[in-house]
Amino acid sequence: MAAEKPNVVFVLGAPGAGKGTQCSNIVEKFKYVHLSAGDLLRAERNEPKSEFGDLIATHIKEGKIVPVAITCSLLERAMNDSMKAGQGNNFVIDGFPRNQDNLDGWNCQMGDKTNLKFVLFFDCPEEICIDRCISRGAAGSGRTDDNKESLKKRFETYVTSTKPIIDHYAEKNLVKKVDGSRSADAVFTDVQALFSS
Ligand code: C5P
Ligand code: MG
Repeated sequence: MAAEKPNVVFVLGAPGAGKGTQCSNIVEKFKYVHLSAGDLLRAERNEPKSEFGDLIATHIKEGKIVPVAITCSLLERAMNDSMKAGQGNNFVIDGFPRNQDNLDGWNCQMGDKTNLKFVLFFDCPEEICIDRCISRGAAGSGRTDDNKESLKKRFETYVTSTKPIIDHYAEKNLVKKVDGSRSADAVFTDVQALFSS
């Protein structure tokens, strides 16, 4: 018997909009597995045997989007591992698809194998996002891109490459937008309502 198609919720928003924080909350409260494209890329970068380590490292520092073949394979592998481990087939995928290449690659490789439920979009002004990322860096995130220079580039990428993807999904009525500028608790109250309905 064919297994049921995994359900996917994409989580998008500017760097520092609260994607990771809210995904952790979602996992605590609902039967979802959280996959962060950025975390998977950072783990692959840190893998000494990876042939993509250097490429990923430069892309992250420059705030550029890694070619989708790499990211999509990491996501597919993580989904399969997690389903094999019996963790269920509901996924919140954070930080993906980030540009047209991501979107096309996903549709081609995963579109038919998954069921996209909706896109959760955390809307948050740039100043707040930048402050959060700078604080996160100062608090020891250890990330190579939580600094002023990288953040400027990450925001450029967000505006020019990611925003159009959110608009694309909005046209298909798939976007659920939440005001991400508020406290994590206030934001989660709204998020919970979306996942309970
Ligand atoms: O989502 P997060 O802020 O952790 O992403 C960090 C970096 O990882 C991005 O700025 C980008 O360089 C890389 N990334 C990517 N493709 C994605 C997600 C993240 O290249 N879909
Ligand atoms: Mg994150």
